[in-house]
Amino acid sequence: MPLMLLRRCFIDRRLITSELKWLIVIILLCVCEMDFVSCQARYSIPEETPEGSSVGNVAKDLGIEINRLISGKARVVTKGGRQYVELSRDKGTLVVKERIDREELCKQTTPCSFSFDLIMENPIELHRVTVEVQDVNDNAPIFPKGTVNLQIIENTETGARFPLDRAVDLDVGINGIESYSLSQNDHFTLKINTQADGNKHVEMVLQRDLDREDRDQLKLVLTAYDGGSPKKSGTMQIHISVLDVNDNKPVCREIAYKAEVRENLAAGAVVTVVSATDADQGLNGHVSYSFAQASKEARNVFKINSETGAITTSDTLDYETEKMYHLNVKAMDNGTLSDTCNVIIEIIDENDNSPSIQLMSFSNIIAENSPIGTTVAVINVEDADSGQNGLVQCKINENIPFKIESSLSDYYAIITDELLDRENIAEYNITILVSDQGSPARHSNKTISVKISDVNDNPPVFSSEEFKAFVAENNSPGVAVLTVKASDADWGPNARLSYFLEDRNIQGNPVSSLVSVNSESGVVHAIKAFDYEQMKTFSFNVTARDGGSPPLSSEVTVTIIVQDQNDNAPQVLYPLQTGGSVVAEIVPRSADVGYLVTKVVAVDVDSGQNAWLSYKLQKATDRALFEVGAQNGEIRTVRQVTDKDAVKQKLTVVVEDNGQPSRSAVVNINVAVADTFPEVLSEFTDFTHSKQYNDDLTFYLVLALAAVSFLFITTVVVIISVKIYRWRQSRIFYQSNLPVIPYYPPGYTDTGVTGTLPHMYNYDACMTTDSRKSNCKYSTLGGQSVLVMDPSFTETLQRAMVEKQIQQEPESPEVVRK
Ligand SMILES: *[C@@H]1O[C@H](CO)[C@@H](O)[C@H](O)[C@H]1NC(C)=O
Repeated sequence: MPLMLLRRCFIDRRLITSELKWLIVIILLCVCEMDFVSCQARYSIPEETPEGSSVGNVAKDLGIEINRLISGKARVVTKGGRQYVELSRDKGTLVVKERIDREELCKQTTPCSFSFDLIMENPIELHRVTVEVQDVNDNAPIFPKGTVNLQIIENTETGARFPLDRAVDLDVGINGIESYSLSQNDHFTLKINTQADGNKHVEMVLQRDLDREDRDQLKLVLTAYDGGSPKKSGTMQIHISVLDVNDNKPVCREIAYKAEVRENLAAGAVVTVVSATDADQGLNGHVSYSFAQASKEARNVFKINSETGAITTSDTLDYETEKMYHLNVKAMDNGTLSDTCNVIIEIIDENDNSPSIQLMSFSNIIAENSPIGTTVAVINVEDADSGQNGLVQCKINENIPFKIESSLSDYYAIITDELLDRENIAEYNITILVSDQGSPARHSNKTISVKISDVNDNPPVFSSEEFKAFVAENNSPGVAVLTVKASDADWGPNARLSYFLEDRNIQGNPVSSLVSVNSESGVVHAIKAFDYEQMKTFSFNVTARDGGSPPLSSEVTVTIIVQDQNDNAPQVLYPLQTGGSVVAEIVPRSADVGYLVTKVVAVDVDSGQNAWLSYKLQKATDRALFEVGAQNGEIRTVRQVTDKDAVKQKLTVVVEDNGQPSRSAVVNINVAVADTFPEVLSEFTDFTHSKQYNDDLTFYLVLALAAVSFLFITTVVVIISVKIYRWRQSRIFYQSNLPVIPYYPPGYTDTGVTGTLPHMYNYDACMTTDSRKSNCKYSTLGGQSVLVMDPSFTETLQRAMVEKQIQQEPESPEVVRK
């Protein structure tokens, strides 16, 4: 029963409460008091003792004889579990039968022991043996994980704690964990707190800031040591990843980006690439680019790729607009940090602008007498390009009398280089050619037209050096005789010519009484009928004057040659034909054949053929007796005079000129054929009885003379009054600038009217000589006066005129002709 109790006591020991323990100890002591049961034997061995090693001499320790052990068949009885120990009976010792692992046997329980019974029979004897297993340091500290990964944000404040797994050592006591150590590093230290249960709490404390940009990975090793001897250790890898924080701002790679770009670069070309770096990671290090503080102009021209930082042109560049751009590029990461990169873009000039020509002043008309060096135009030449591309050269076309001179920079003057002559070239086109020095060069040109204005530098020039006109006498007054023509090389008013008659006296009369000149047409009109017998030729000067200021003029001599017409009948000079007197040529009866009786002397004031006279016997008392020399007018006898011939012979001789038609005069010649004067006288008394008639005629002549004288005086008075009136009129007339109209004094006894004056009146001029009757009469037809002559009167008139002329010029060779 006590055995059973004891046994139960062993078995249930672990289950027994602490109250029960005390009860079991008491019972054990009671059992040990008993005789047959010796008390316990205790041994102590280290774990891991090799098999066969002696645990202890149980026979000796328990006082049992070897024999007894053998006879009693002593054996080890282990209840359950493994039997670590066996009995060597013949030696009485206990030896290790199986490896003993304390940690397996007892875990962390200390002290660790196992018990078994030694049983013998005959008599039964029971001994309890307890073997205490001592710990041996056979286990190293072990961490639950070989590697631990930590992620720590950079810039975590110092002092931050990071708990770590602790290590486990199966050994106990001194062989358990004793210490930890952390591999050498700059950032962390180890802090170990021993907790109330004896366990150690391991943590890392951050001593220095982590910087991902410096090191983004840290590898530490935590080592745990036990207290055994020799010590054993275990390690744990600590992998620390430093997490990024946006603590770095982007940084431009270059302080200033400089780029040189040619203007006219095509849009889209890359100018430069801005680049900034950010030490941060991921989005914190992702840099985007944009313009900051860029001018509007720059933004119009450039754009930036926000991802790559490439600056490209978005429009064509123009050096002339902007030579340089300063751009600020903001490089920004995804956070709020940024940097500003300076970009300087310099535009390089290209020769893309043609030079421009601007007329600053220009006189498109210059006078032909402008002196050399007269400025025609001032031009301004500009080229927007710079350098050689903007350097401009200027010239004008050649072979014109102009040159170009540079006055100020960019200003040129076109001046005359020679004297100009409008009459030669009246207009010039000046082409200004401007080119710059670029490569290739650019050109511009401009043409200006310069007109040369006229100056009155050319006098009128007559078409002929001298003008001559032949006018048949007795021309109708007003007839156009000739036209003087002059030309003037000038232009406009300077070439507008007027013709004037130069005043001069011709045979005591002003030339204006003879001719007039149409001031515009230059037509010379005869004012009156010319009389060859009075004036065979006359000259006068006509001036052509232009309208310049001052005017220039030229003179030309006009000669009018009056041509003769057969307007005068022959005039018999001898024998004198007086109505009353009886003149007779005496032919002696003894006269021979061919006796010169007399000579008819006649003249014809005409000239040439018109004055070439021939004589003809028209009537004769005795045609057989006389003959007339056809050429010389000599009357000769053609036969011997006989006594039968009558004393009184009457001859009629006709004197004819050779004109077409011819004119003639008749002369009566009395011839007395007698030897003595009384004979003649007696014969010719019938010649004188007509004296009464002659007396009557004389009376009538005196009467006529008185009438003519009265008429003459009246006419003179009228002429003087009219002349004074006209003179006063003409004074007013000349003061005006009207063209000079030929002036016709009204006192002329010329017949008819002039063609140039619109006469509203008729000159009451008649040719009256010895006639008491009016021999002319007027008829007015359509405003023009026509003189109708009585043909019967012509002869009388002509004779009267001839008589007058002979009295004036008796020696005139033209008058006396043979
Ligand atoms: C000047 O140019 C104009 C226009 O081209 C032309 O009509 C004229 O005949 C030219 N004049 C001269 C003198 O060449």
